[in-house]
Amino acid sequence: MKKKVLVTEPIPQKVIDYLESEVELERWDKSEKMPRELLLQKIPSFHGLITSKDKIDQEFLQTAKNIEGVSNISVGYDNLDIEALKASKVIATHTPYVLDETVADLIFGLILATARRIPELQQYVREGNWNRSVDQSLFGYNVHHKKLGIIGMGRIGEKVARRAKLGFEMEVSYYNRSRKEDVEKELDVKYEEMNSLLQTSDFILLMTPLTKQTHHMINAEAFKMMKPTCFFINAARGAVVDEEAMINALENKEILGAGLDVFEQEPVAKDNPLLEMDNVVTLPHVGSATAETREEMKLFAAKNMLQLLKGEKPDALIKELQ
Ligand code: DGY
Repeated sequence: MKKKVLVTEPIPQKVIDYLESEVELERWDKSEKMPRELLLQKIPSFHGLITSKDKIDQEFLQTAKNIEGVSNISVGYDNLDIEALKASKVIATHTPYVLDETVADLIFGLILATARRIPELQQYVREGNWNRSVDQSLFGYNVHHKKLGIIGMGRIGEKVARRAKLGFEMEVSYYNRSRKEDVEKELDVKYEEMNSLLQTSDFILLMTPLTKQTHHMINAEAFKMMKPTCFFINAARGAVVDEEAMINALENKEILGAGLDVFEQEPVAKDNPLLEMDNVVTLPHVGSATAETREEMKLFAAKNMLQLLKGEKPDALIKELQ
């Protein structure tokens, strides 16, 4: 008898065919999240879940009587309670590597859009305001030859550093829990203590995963250390930043602007003050969202699922569960 897998995200036909060759599949094809109650109602009969947003906690694991593994379609896995997974001996996987370049591209888009005010100036042109020569009220700031400070030097951070060094001749520093001397040598980037990086960077990129330890790591004190000409970019997870502190820092001109792909609450609340600020570029968490990369991620997640159901070690087992 085939094992049963529930997929709570739309997946392309290619991935459906691949999975159906080995398992019995049930799919939730809507872009809205599957309601929690429905997930809990269905899950007891399934051996595997492929998801990207569902909260995998004690309640889920106690209900999912037959579950062998959860395959997350994302590199970040803050929706998974790792301790609860360990305790219930359920395997979980994610999708690193395949999205690194795509997310790095988007980050550079955010850096440029923020410093050169691209969305704001597009609005200016569209609204028919371009009836005189460009004066300093429309000027932005240079990106090239500035200093980029990366907090959290993982694979994506490295891809961004490469773009910054080779494409924009920027000075790049990073802060990470552990030093990466090979990366320092290869890319000519410098390790710097967090406070010094905060105080001296023109662009600060946050790439730290969200964990209990990193929750609100960038707080009011951190924003106060930044230069008043600094642009803050977050493409990691919203809750690594104390969003209220960031709003205050922007309102009080402690920093010059922000480029945000992620928020503490997603989808972002319509009355979030960040949406009203001209110096803030906001995106709907699209770091990896290209047709090619999302397909690759879904295929990777499917492969991880089939491996784990066969009792093989999946290609991308989450490191805390190894
Ligand atoms: C991830 O995979 O964690 C990214 O945030 C998705 O864009």
